[in-house]
Amino acid sequence: MTTSSDTQRLRLGVNIDHVATVRNARGGATPDPLRAAKMAEEAGADGITAHLREDRRHISDADIDGLAAALTVPLNFEMAATDEMQAIALRHRPHAVCIVPERREERTTEGGLDVARDENRLAHFIAPLRKAGCRVSIFIAADRRQIDAAHRTGAEVIELHTGAYCDAHAEGRVDDRDRELAALRDMAAHAHALGLEVHAGHGLTYDTVAPVAAMPEVRELNIGHFLIGEAIFMGLAPAIAEMRRLMEGARS
Ligand code: PXP
Repeated sequence: MTTSSDTQRLRLGVNIDHVATVRNARGGATPDPLRAAKMAEEAGADGITAHLREDRRHISDADIDGLAAALTVPLNFEMAATDEMQAIALRHRPHAVCIVPERREERTTEGGLDVARDENRLAHFIAPLRKAGCRVSIFIAADRRQIDAAHRTGAEVIELHTGAYCDAHAEGRVDDRDRELAALRDMAAHAHALGLEVHAGHGLTYDTVAPVAAMPEVRELNIGHFLIGEAIFMGLAPAIAEMRRLMEGARS
């Protein structure tokens, strides 16, 4: 059953990692991810997402310090489940912590976290973060076993990995795309029924956002790479405004 809270406004978290990717290509100070974050705030982002990777390939510790000090919208701090990252999160106490898998050789976060394999350790890892007041989310595939395990860890939120859906769309694999979308729909409903808040993200574009935004259980989308790419052509604020328009259109 759809309740009034299900139809609450869908939030957009703008991921600014790839502003730092461009900056780091030259090793200087520009473009500044904090400036992008402030601009995204003004353009209607409901939150800013940043992933401090173990290898610091894009976002740096100083970026996180700057974001934590200057943002007026919530910071969603993405990190691997390591002691180092937990200590950084406990120091900053961001609004949200999203636990993601990390492999050094990957180009981006390629799959969801295998929560089922690491459930006990994750439960212990999450407890102090929640005690510090962070909303803890886990980035996972649309897989019932993983969602049930995430629920048992004490996480309040899951973020469904939309990468497989977006890849299938981009490659014209229509049957795969539809199957991935169906799995996202079913698992959003399953997670919601367990009492988890449902977010989604990875690889979303203007072409792929609507069916995900239309899922009533999904409360937040986190989108980065495509928006930063579009910003080259139309500017960051109009790129975000167009994404918001598509999200709201799908929701209504
Ligand atoms: N959500 C999570 C948990 C992510 O790790 C990422 C990518 O870093 C995103 C959303 C955003 O993905 P994209 O940059 O492809 O929009």
